[in-house]
Amino acid sequence: MKFITNDMQTESGDKTIDESRQGEAVMVEPKRGHGKKLLLESYGCAMNFSDSEIVASILTEEGFGTTRNAEEADVILLNTCSIREKAEDRIRNRLLAFKKMKRKNPSLIVGVLGCMAERLKETLLEQEKLVDLVVGPDAYRDLPNLIEQVGTGQKAVNVLLSREETYAEISPVRLNSNGINAYISIMRGCDNMCSFCVVPFTRGRERSRDPESIVNEAIELANNGYKEVTLLGQNVDSYKWNLTKKGEVKDENLPTVSFSELMELVAKACPELWIRFSTSHPKDLTDDVAEVIAKYDNICNYIHLPIQSGNNEILKKMNRGYTREWYLNRIEALRRIAPKCAISTDIITGFCGETEEQHADTLSLMKEVGFDMAYMFKYSERPKTLAERKYEDDVPEEVKGRRLSEVIDLQRA
Ligand code: 5AD
Ligand code: SF4
Repeated sequence: MKFITNDMQTESGDKTIDESRQGEAVMVEPKRGHGKKLLLESYGCAMNFSDSEIVASILTEEGFGTTRNAEEADVILLNTCSIREKAEDRIRNRLLAFKKMKRKNPSLIVGVLGCMAERLKETLLEQEKLVDLVVGPDAYRDLPNLIEQVGTGQKAVNVLLSREETYAEISPVRLNSNGINAYISIMRGCDNMCSFCVVPFTRGRERSRDPESIVNEAIELANNGYKEVTLLGQNVDSYKWNLTKKGEVKDENLPTVSFSELMELVAKACPELWIRFSTSHPKDLTDDVAEVIAKYDNICNYIHLPIQSGNNEILKKMNRGYTREWYLNRIEALRRIAPKCAISTDIITGFCGETEEQHADTLSLMKEVGFDMAYMFKYSERPKTLAERKYEDDVPEEVKGRRLSEVIDLQRA
């Protein structure tokens, strides 16, 4: 039985990226050479690693070559994560090291991409004076212009979030790929506003990508010999094409596609591909997803279904939109409809005001479900989130730590 603690894994928990890959540099051949070298490092969740493949696609088109060696780089970009404070601390340390390098090599351009760029915006340039370039997750098409602007001696920022951008037609350059598994981003952003989570602020509103471009990307991967794809989104169960949030059809002349229908489309188009998906949200998980898992041999019998807490009051304060009973009902449905399906989860210990009894409810829920795997974290307060504004981060660090150890020990047992 596996267990993963917050010390061992990605800073983002769900869409797992191994600790050993954090800070990994991207290596690709340029399309046409102007001789400039890019060091592009990725941190955090699979969504960031997947976004780096889009950034690499845009910049290799522009003639950049890549390097793993900072000394050799003309441009250094870090694709960053803000989910917990520890994740940001690690990136700040990296940026401080590059700041020293810039003293020796003033023409070196250093930029921050991703969630930390979006969260901190100009402060990274103005107050902290750590970087030349700040680019949020929806502005990567603008990177060539922004890098050029920095080349003329100005600082450059684009942190505009978009309601439409899905980079649908950009063919990602598969980075450091083993040629076996690849990510396909199916949606961007998150509208859930879980009170502890910074993601809705850093990645903006939820939007789904055109299903045709998703299926085509899967077919291309299969044709290139890939064996496994992971359909990625912050909340894949709310994938919707041509439907409003309320479920109304946007354009009568176009088909509508739900998440389970999208999985079916990919499963049928690529029978030789093994299909995974991440991450599911318990409040949106419908039986049809379990039915599709059970129906297609090439859809992986595995679901990541973050519970966060086993106590209803805490779940309410977390703004998760479900109760313990609802969650257990979803587990029951999964086990009934897709009995072979393995289940993993995310758990946060020491959320604002959590009592010993409420923590005990998380332990009892874990016993009741018997998760195959869990990602477990101490609560880390994030600026501007609903929890930061509404509740006090009042569980002492050592209590959070002790509760985390109890959760880990139980998962291990
Ligand atoms: N503190 C601790 N863990 C968090 N997560 C998200 N935000 C925080 C936070 N502020 C965890 C949740 C989520 C996973 C991706 O990271 O468990 O499911
Ligand atoms: Fe954050 Fe909740 Fe959205 Fe997940 S579903 S990204 S935890 S707000």
